[in-house]
Amino acid sequence: MDLNRFKKRGYVKKTTDIDPLNNITKVMNNGVNLYIKRDDMLENGGNKTRKLDYLIADALEKGCDTLITCGAVQSNHCRITLAWSNVEKMDCHLILEERVPGSYSEDANGNNFLFHLMGAKSIKVVQGGADLMAKMEEKAEQLRAEGKKPYIIPGGGSNGIGALGYSSCALEIMEQLTKKALDIDAIVVPSGSSGTHAGMAVALKAMNSKIKLVGINVSKPEDAQKEVVYKVAQQHLEHLGLDKDLLKKEELICIGDYVGPGYSRRTDGMVDAVKTFATEEGILLDPVYTGKVGDGFLTLVKDGYFKEGDNVLFLHTGGSIALYAYIDYFKNK
Ligand SMILES: Cc1ncc(COP(=O)(O)O)c(C=O)c1O
Repeated sequence: MDLNRFKKRGYVKKTTDIDPLNNITKVMNNGVNLYIKRDDMLENGGNKTRKLDYLIADALEKGCDTLITCGAVQSNHCRITLAWSNVEKMDCHLILEERVPGSYSEDANGNNFLFHLMGAKSIKVVQGGADLMAKMEEKAEQLRAEGKKPYIIPGGGSNGIGALGYSSCALEIMEQLTKKALDIDAIVVPSGSSGTHAGMAVALKAMNSKIKLVGINVSKPEDAQKEVVYKVAQQHLEHLGLDKDLLKKEELICIGDYVGPGYSRRTDGMVDAVKTFATEEGILLDPVYTGKVGDGFLTLVKDGYFKEGDNVLFLHTGGSIALYAYIDYFKNK
């Protein structure tokens, strides 16, 4: 797979580390060897930097001077898009979806604080379930009338272009494993807007890899999430010029058992996973995404989902800034 023909801005300046999770492996004590890929250490943090590397290159190539994107009220994606827009001297407008009624507060900490600090040009809060693409189109129309050239980035940066961030990450992982002579049996990834999951799934398939890709859902049940991942994977295959039948929907693994009462809602398992990574490895997860994926990862290991002797890699996609907006989740625990 040659991805060099796709333009990118060069935000991903280094290969992120793959490290053993020695202490957690010891605690689990069932013969499965655990590793972590530190995409949380990418500049400006997390998986969105990989996607935006390609998306903002596309925006600039199209002559755009303004980015419009959307996300939840504590969206890492919105914060990271805003950060890169500042680097590029582009304007950035945010549409925030209040998925949990009453969850938006202008004074909230975490990502919300940074939306203001980093100077989003506008923030519009809309009700949960609103048509976010329509809201972004509306904003784009208004900005065009003012003489701006807006570029719309879909939620999570997940489309055929954004997924390049994670097909390229899959290539990076394969190269690292070759260098380390490390044979990974499974990779555990978050499955949300799904550019991460879909990009990895397409690339592993295109490379004919035997690595099992396990998606842990952050908001939807299994079947609904498979639809989301499959749609982005189809867009990505088309963008790559590959056969759309390369990846079948049935091949996708989207485990919905760790979402709990809903997106961004507290679960005991999430709190335990965040605490385990923090106390055993000094690694910060987040309450909305990697905490729930961490819960799935640790529970699957504990429950024998992987075989003794398997090497399993946890993809850490960032987001720890959101911890400061959900401190209550960790009280009295
Ligand atoms: C920290 C973090 N991890 C994982 C995800 C989910 O990734 P994706 O949207 O590609 O499914 C997000 C999405 O916002 C995120 O912010």
